[in-house]
Amino acid sequence: MCGIIGITSKNNIKFDLIKCLKNLEYRGYDSVGIYLNKLIKTKGRVSDLEKLIDDSINSSCGLGHSRWATHGIVNNVNAHPFISYNQKFVLVHNGIITNYLEIKENLLIKGYKFYSDTDSEVVCNLLDCYYLKYHDAFKSLKLTLNNLEGSYALGIINLDEPNKIYFAKKDSPLVIGKSSNFNFIVSDINSSYFLTNEFIILNDKEYGYLDSDNIHIYLKDKEILKNSITLNLDNKEITKDGFEHFMLKEIHEEPKVLKNILDKYTLNNKICLDPLFIKELINADEINILGCGTSYHAALIGKEIIEKITMKKVNVYLASEFSNVNLINYNSPFIFLSQSGETIDLKIAYNNIKNKDKIYTFTNVLTSSLAQLANKAFDLCSGIEIAVASTKAYISEVTLLIMIAYKMINKDEIFINEIYNCINSINKTLNTKESIYELATKIKDSTSLFFLGRGMDHLINLENSLKLKEVSYIHSEAFYGGELKHGSIALISKGINVIGLITNEKYLTLLSNIKEVESRHANVNLISTSNLNINSQYVIECNNELFTPIIVSPFFQLLSYYCAKLNNRDIDKPRNLAKSCTVE
Ligand code: M6R
Repeated sequence: MCGIIGITSKNNIKFDLIKCLKNLEYRGYDSVGIYLNKLIKTKGRVSDLEKLIDDSINSSCGLGHSRWATHGIVNNVNAHPFISYNQKFVLVHNGIITNYLEIKENLLIKGYKFYSDTDSEVVCNLLDCYYLKYHDAFKSLKLTLNNLEGSYALGIINLDEPNKIYFAKKDSPLVIGKSSNFNFIVSDINSSYFLTNEFIILNDKEYGYLDSDNIHIYLKDKEILKNSITLNLDNKEITKDGFEHFMLKEIHEEPKVLKNILDKYTLNNKICLDPLFIKELINADEINILGCGTSYHAALIGKEIIEKITMKKVNVYLASEFSNVNLINYNSPFIFLSQSGETIDLKIAYNNIKNKDKIYTFTNVLTSSLAQLANKAFDLCSGIEIAVASTKAYISEVTLLIMIAYKMINKDEIFINEIYNCINSINKTLNTKESIYELATKIKDSTSLFFLGRGMDHLINLENSLKLKEVSYIHSEAFYGGELKHGSIALISKGINVIGLITNEKYLTLLSNIKEVESRHANVNLISTSNLNINSQYVIECNNELFTPIIVSPFFQLLSYYCAKLNNRDIDKPRNLAKSCTVE
C-alpha cells in the first residue's frame, strides 16, 4: 500500500515523476504528493495534484508518493512527502513504524514540532535530529534505521545535497531502476518500466543512496555489489487497450491467460512442471496453501479439486490468520498464492515457517518479495493486473492449482484438453455480455444480495460475493443453501435479491433452498451449467465439473463489473482499497 517514486537525473523529471505516480496510484489513492524543488500535496488523486502544478515546478531530482492511509486521517497534512522540522530532509514512506510514538516523544522533548499524525513524519524528524548533530546525511540515515521498528520503504532527499536520493527497505517493496542519464527508486517495476527495463531488486535491510550516475547499496554497514536484471515487458499491458476500464480489459484477457499457461507449462501434450516440486507434493502427507482475499478463494477451490482427484489432504489457511492456527503440519509443503507477491500477511507467515525449503510461491510478479523468498516461484502468467479487483489472476491461480492436481495423477492430456474447452466457454460468455448486463440492471439497486450454492459452488460464490461488494459496494454474502434454515434465512424478505448457482447434478438440492427463499418473496436468479427449465435462469455450458470455477467465474466478474458501472463506481480503484496490501 502506498506507492513511492524518487528520480535523480541530469534532466528535468517532472513529467516522468508524474507519469510514474499515475501508474503507482493503484497501490493507494487517498492522497498524493510530490517534491520537485517545492512540496505539493493534496487529498485525492494524481489528477487533483496536477491542477496544482505550474511551470515553476520542475527539478532534476524529486520524490513522489501516493498514499493509502494508516496513521492519520486522509487530508492534505497527512499526505507525503514530509519536510523535516528544520527543513533538512524531505521524505516519502511506505510501511508502518511501530515504535513511532516512543521516538516522537523523545523528539518532542528536544523541541520538535509535528504537523501530521503520521509515523512517517517522525522518521523525517529523527533524520533531521541526527543531521543537526553530525552534519552527515548518510550517518543520520544509518542511525535512524537503527531506531526503527516495523516496515519501511523510504525515499529521502537531504536538502543540502539536492541531487541525491537516500533509500532504505525493510518488509515493504522497493526496487532501483537504472538508466544512462538517471537512476530511481520505485515501489514496483510495472509502474516504471516506461523509464527503463533494467532494475536492481532490493532485499530487506538494504539501504544506500543514488544520483544520476551512481548507485551505492549497503547492508550492515558494508557496501555490496548487486547485479541488475533486464526485463522484457510488454508495453501494451499497462494501457486500457480501448476498454473503458482495466477490470473489463482484464476479464477479456482471460482466454489469453489460459493460453499463456498452456504455452508456459505444457509441451507435446505434457504438463512441464518442476518434477521435484511435483514429487514433493506426491510424497507429502498433506499440502498447505496460503492466501488472502481472492487468492484465498482460489486456494479453497484448489483444495477441493486436489483432494478430489489426488486424495491428498490439503489445508488452506488465510495468511492473515495463520499465526492464530493451532495445528499446522510444518513438514509438508506450503504453496503461497499471491497475485502481487507482496502481501504482508504472507510475508509474516513466511517468517513463521521454520523450514523454508518447502515454500513455493505462485505469483504474477516474479521479481516480487515472495517470489524471491520462495524455494521456487511459479509464474501465474496473467500479465500485469492493474484493476484493484483481481479477475484474471484468480483464473490463473485456480488453473495452476488444477494443473498440479492433474500432474500429480499423470493425467496431463485431460487437463490440456479441458483448458481448451474453458477458453471456448469463456469466449462464449464474453460474447453474451448483454444478458449479464440485463441481470446487473435487475440487481444493481440491492441493499443486500445473497449468493446460494452447495459444495464447490459455495466456494465459487465466496469469490463472486467478494467481487460484487468490492467494486459495486453492494453488501453481499455467500451462504451454503442447506445452512439457510439454520439462521441466515431471517435476512430474507420481500424483494431481496438472491443468486443461486448450480454447476453439478449433485447440487440440485439447492432448488429446494431456492423455493424456500422464493416463498418468502425473494427475487431469485439462477445461474446453472445445464437447463433446469425455470424462470430467470442463465445457462453457462460446462461438461467437466472440475473446471466449472474457471468457466463460470468470468460471468460473475462481468456481473460485478456491470453493477459497479450502473452504480457509477470508481471501478478500477474502489474506495478504501489498494492493489497490494503491504501493511498489516
Ligand atoms: O496480491 P495478493 O493475491 O496476495 O492479494 C490478496 C488480496 O489482497 C487480493 O486478492 C484482494 O482480495 C483483491 N483486491 C480482490 O479482488
